[in-house]
Amino acid sequence: MSDFNTTKNSNQYNIQWFPGHMAKTLRMMETEIHNVDASLVLLDARIPLSSLNPEIERITARKPKLYALNKADLADPEVTAQWIRYFRAADAGCVAINAKQKGGTAAVKAAIEKELTDLLARRQVRGMGGAKIRLMLCGIPNVGKSTFINTFVGSARAKAADKPGVTRGKQWVGTERYDLLDMPGVLWKKFDSKQTASNLAFIGSIKDDILDIEELAMNLLDQVRCNYPEKVAERYKLNAEQLQLPPFELLEAIGRKRGMLISGGEVNTERAAIMLVDEFRASKWGRISLEKPPVREELPEEDDFDGEE
Ligand code: G4P
Repeated sequence: MSDFNTTKNSNQYNIQWFPGHMAKTLRMMETEIHNVDASLVLLDARIPLSSLNPEIERITARKPKLYALNKADLADPEVTAQWIRYFRAADAGCVAINAKQKGGTAAVKAAIEKELTDLLARRQVRGMGGAKIRLMLCGIPNVGKSTFINTFVGSARAKAADKPGVTRGKQWVGTERYDLLDMPGVLWKKFDSKQTASNLAFIGSIKDDILDIEELAMNLLDQVRCNYPEKVAERYKLNAEQLQLPPFELLEAIGRKRGMLISGGEVNTERAAIMLVDEFRASKWGRISLEKPPVREELPEEDDFDGEE
């Protein structure tokens, strides 16, 4: 049975991708949530809402929780600061991190212990201050869970993979003070919007094999040139007129500039599209956020994100 469905429409793809192992992971999470003190939900700092899995939200609602906006080093620091304010205004614990760096995991530990202040105090009173904190680590595929665990634990235990859908089982990983339950990456059955699906595809959380790469590259260019025109122009040496071209012509113009031609002088648009998506994912376009927080009134002014992740 096919585990995905893509339906073409006027300018975007309706993408659904929910292999059987993801349904199994959700069932496993339902059980394991009872065995942990709190959950740590990794989100992608470039698309915090699109990477917020409603199924994970539902399951983790029963326990204290911290959101970590990972890959903050790839996102626009100003927008990340807005996201932190957005989450905190909703009374949700939230930190921005780069899972490759120790500073990121240290920030998570401090924030988790703040979320668990009451529990830790109760344990202290009962003489159980030495009990380990049990955390469930969850998030969508490719969000950086393995990387986080390796940095957290201080050695390469979990295998980081660049492909979503590389199936892993749950595993407990221990440190002196923590037991971390690493869950496989999981999406959800039906994305509520095509934008969500596109965002997940742009950052590489949906298996590329099921995507039309040219469509993906054109949508990505179209979206990014609205908010960061100077970054696209600079990377691909485009003048103001070229930057306004219809998406397919823009793809061709970039391919031509890179000398990606086939016989007859035509542009190999598939090759150009692969190059564009790869370069975006490798942050060659610069630090870009694909999503801004919805406007909420009375957000607090202060934040402690300095954009240095
Ligand atoms: P997963 O377990 O959630 O599926 O994700 P994983 O840790 O495998 O990470 C997916 C990719 O994202 C890896 O890149 C990893 O290095 C990268 N990554 C994770 N966290 C961060 C972060 O905070 N910042 C940046 N810039 N990248 C991050 P890769 O190219 O697949 O692997 P590698 O060659 O880097 O090992």
